[in-house]
Amino acid sequence: MTVTSRTQVGIVGAGPAGLLLSHLLALRGIDSIVVENRSRAYCEARQRAGLLEAGTVELLRTVGLGDRMDAEGLEHGGIYLQFEGERHHLDFRDLTGGRWVTIYAQTEIVKDLIRTRLAAGAMIEFEVSDTEVGELDTERPVLRFTDAGGTRHEVVCDAIAGCDGFHGICRDSMPPGLIRVAEREYPYSWLGILAHVPPSTDELIYCRHQDGFALHTMRTPQVSRLYLQVPADEDIEAWSDDRIWAELRHRLEVPGWELKDGHISEKAISPMRSFVASPMRYRRLFLAGDAAHIVPPTGAKGLNLALADVTVLAKALSSLLKDGRAGLADAYSDASLTRVWRATHFSWWMTSMLHVDPQSDQFGAELQLAQLRYVISSRAAATTLAENYTGYFPLTWEY
Ligand code: FAD
Ligand code: DHB
Repeated sequence: MTVTSRTQVGIVGAGPAGLLLSHLLALRGIDSIVVENRSRAYCEARQRAGLLEAGTVELLRTVGLGDRMDAEGLEHGGIYLQFEGERHHLDFRDLTGGRWVTIYAQTEIVKDLIRTRLAAGAMIEFEVSDTEVGELDTERPVLRFTDAGGTRHEVVCDAIAGCDGFHGICRDSMPPGLIRVAEREYPYSWLGILAHVPPSTDELIYCRHQDGFALHTMRTPQVSRLYLQVPADEDIEAWSDDRIWAELRHRLEVPGWELKDGHISEKAISPMRSFVASPMRYRRLFLAGDAAHIVPPTGAKGLNLALADVTVLAKALSSLLKDGRAGLADAYSDASLTRVWRATHFSWWMTSMLHVDPQSDQFGAELQLAQLRYVISSRAAATTLAENYTGYFPLTWEY
């Protein structure tokens, strides 16, 4: 038996993009359903991003999601860039006229969003299976899924948002030949750990070492997060906790500074990829976040891009569904892709400048070092990094 129902917007995926979209639509008086194939606990525990641009923080505050972030988030006004055994500070506030970033984990944003949406009586179906989107040539696209109890559902929508991440089904449901993909794979991965030890630094350290990149970031005053460049096909089993700490200590070493270690509660290896699919829309199916684009993590743009996409999309859908005006929906893909390509360039640039490419040579290494020396000595070059890092495109709810 199939249960048929009706909503205005069907949202596939309860990651940050799908959840924020349903919240923003509700603020504009638009109903939605979110379907998610994982459990609530899994979505709330998945370790990923941690760094929010100033515009993302301001948006979350404006739409009523700022309380815990303001209490627990860690505001940072700069970063350290380390290379050739020396650590240099970049002061974003000075370089950009006061801009900053905030450390507040994606897990916490997802928890805040799920709690807020459920308290408002929202429909979020966790642990669904066999999600499908259909009737895409019509003005009534249909979202189909099987709920956790085994009942098949068919939800007739006015629009569908594919917020189902890189491995989701929405992008591939677009008509064959519509989507163009531009992508790069990088010949290395990141090994990330979550460690129960206070951070050994006040601000993030991005380090280019001749044996590979390392990053010291954090989650709370008690919890550190660290990343190491490892070979693309690396097996996590090759990395004991002791080996991880020894390698971090080796790459991050500077005279007079010590890396504190502690219990590692999570470790995982993530591939590095740039990927942009365009257009991000087919009629009334809209893609947002990782479903449409992926950046390598250096520079922390992925989550910020996903939240920016749905902020623009919420306004476009409101204009389309409430006022019958298609202008913003028609502009959604191009407007988003301009922002996506800026972040794609920045993430590629940070990644290429800071990682050791196993296929490169002395020439490549010297170019990286020349660029790093330029960034720390030229105010213009430092400002380029700072204004991209803190968020180049303004993002407001009135977007
Ligand atoms: P996702 O978070 O992937 O959510 C998609 C959801 O859809 C998932 O819950 C998935 O289970 C669900 N789904 C998939 N298929 C289906 C289906 N068929 N039916 C129903 N549901 C489905 N970004 C930053 O901005 N800052 C950072 O510091 C940062 N660091 C990162 C570090 C690492 C190690 C990694 C891996 C990523 C990092 N990112 C960072 C990127 C960021 O985490 C992602 O860009 C972000 O999660 C994108 O959100 P999303 O909602 O678009 O997609
Ligand atoms: C984090 C991840 C990043 O990729 C980055 O550039 C900065 C911070 C993080 O997980 O905190």
